[in-house]
Amino acid sequence: MDIDLRRVVADAGRLGFSEQDLPGVERMAANVLTAPDLSADLAGRAELLRAGIGRFAVDGPDPWAGLPDQPDAGAIPMLALLVTAPDVVAYQLGRGVPEVQAWRNLSDLGRQVWVHRLAYGRFGLHNQGWLRTVWAGGFAWLGRLQLNVQPLPDGEWVLSTHIPRRRSDGAPRSGALSPDAVDDSLVRATRFYATHFPDLPATHFWCHSWLLAPELAAALPGSNIAAFQQRWTLDDQVERGDDDAVYFTFAQRVPYDLRRLPRTTSLEQAVASRIEQGEHWTLRSGRIPRAVFPGGR
Ligand SMILES: CC(C)(COP(=O)(O)OP(=O)(O)OC[C@H]1O[C@@H](n2cnc3c(N)ncnc32)[C@H](O)[C@@H]1OP(=O)(O)O)[C@@H](O)C(=O)NCCC(=O)NCCS
Repeated sequence: MDIDLRRVVADAGRLGFSEQDLPGVERMAANVLTAPDLSADLAGRAELLRAGIGRFAVDGPDPWAGLPDQPDAGAIPMLALLVTAPDVVAYQLGRGVPEVQAWRNLSDLGRQVWVHRLAYGRFGLHNQGWLRTVWAGGFAWLGRLQLNVQPLPDGEWVLSTHIPRRRSDGAPRSGALSPDAVDDSLVRATRFYATHFPDLPATHFWCHSWLLAPELAAALPGSNIAAFQQRWTLDDQVERGDDDAVYFTFAQRVPYDLRRLPRTTSLEQAVASRIEQGEHWTLRSGRIPRAVFPGGR
């Protein structure tokens, strides 16, 4: 596969990689490109990613098939995502998305590399499964929230809503989940999908998250998290959410040692003590009609 290393590194600069992570991209690309077996493997996986553009159900062949699903195993996926980013951008340009916004939409890649550093203390990628959804081409990062257009298993199209992790280092891409920021994102998303994806009949925002659990809102009355939870009309499905609560609060995957988790904030205290007491957190799904926002239907 003919890969232009300089272009890969330049594109990483537009895809949300931090200064700290950019040298890792360069090193990794050089390693893979000098190993013919890896290079051929990369080409095949990149082709599968390209074939997935426009398949919003993300139901095509898995580009990561046969790769280990563990920390530090994301070198080939990271490069495959980098070399195909211009194809996804081209797809969104074809739908009239401005170029700056199209790159911004894919910059979740660099954010996931930052999340790997947060969780494991080093450069790498572990969330490549999720990034297939981003690379399907119907994904947008609009202010505080991220969205993608997708069909649910029963065939209904929705605007699936995602909440990227806040950063404590003052980075502009993230911060508190203030009600104003959420309103702004939902209004922008209503306009974005009406303009660029008018063919996809999503009438509702939809969210599946531990943040929608009523017991979380009850534990943090008056908080941004509680206000966010209260926006959604929940369905009846209830799943166990302990591991999500710990992962999204403490950036720790199973197995974690509850006794060693910090208890600085009220969320940290609530998450850890509920599990210690033998109770559980839940994952819930909810909806908001798109029609409540200007231009919604
Ligand atoms: C959702 C999120 C952005 C909300 O942040 P926020 O607007 O600062 O939240 P609130 O103002 O409601 O915070 C209430 C309390 O919880 C604390 N808190 C919120 N998020 C926290 C986090 N990720 N880690 C530790 N403490 C957190 C706040 O500091 C505050 O505590 P305090 O009263 O002791 O100061 C944040 O929780 C986050 O980054 N979560 C991870 C992303 C996530 O869960 N996405 C959904 C995946 S399905």
